[in-house]
Amino acid sequence: MPARYHPILVTLHWLIALLLLMALIAGTLVLDDVPNSAPGKTDALRIHAIMGVSIGVLMLIRLALRLTTRHPAPATSGIALADRLAPLAHWALYALVLGMVGSGIAMAVQSGLGDALFGDGTLPETFDTLFVRGVHGLLATLLILTIALHILAALYHVSVRRDGLLRRMWFGAR
Ligand code: HEM
Repeated sequence: MPARYHPILVTLHWLIALLLLMALIAGTLVLDDVPNSAPGKTDALRIHAIMGVSIGVLMLIRLALRLTTRHPAPATSGIALADRLAPLAHWALYALVLGMVGSGIAMAVQSGLGDALFGDGTLPETFDTLFVRGVHGLLATLLILTIALHILAALYHVSVRRDGLLRRMWFGAR
């Protein structure tokens, strides 16, 4: 078994992490609070939609490579329950991110956002009446919690177990 993940998987991991951080921060702290009538909202939504779809494409490429490349043996934390939950949390990350992209696209389709962002249409008064808007918000909260757990688990490996786990998700001889 290799000692590290495939370098393309490593690159995509950190690139997606950065893009997700930006999309989650911009979505929660900016988009959610700014009314659709505010100047600049259209530009912010355009960037958000392009970024969101890009994350979806990169995530699907990563998923395909993850399923077809050899990867290191599952890490052990010394806590049986955590070891059983870890794969579940990892697959949840894929599901939640793809769910965010899907619900974002559904919201865009339902509200005619494509026209507003890339044509000469105007934004709908609000997205808050759409069911998928609620789904997008709920998945965002679940994703933030799962990412927080993911980061805490990585920190536990590095600082308590001192097993150098992060080396697996970096470049070097496999
Ligand atoms: C992984 C991809 C994505 C992430 C992480 C993300 C993140 C977020 C977050 C955190 C919010 C605020 C939710 C809340 O606090 O209730 C939001 C709102 C929104 N997102 Fe996304 N999003 C993604 C993909 C997309 C896509 C692909 C589209 C459209 C094509 C989209 C369109 C929107 C819209 C229209 C809003 C509502 C803004 C408002 O209420 O004014 N998102 N997004």
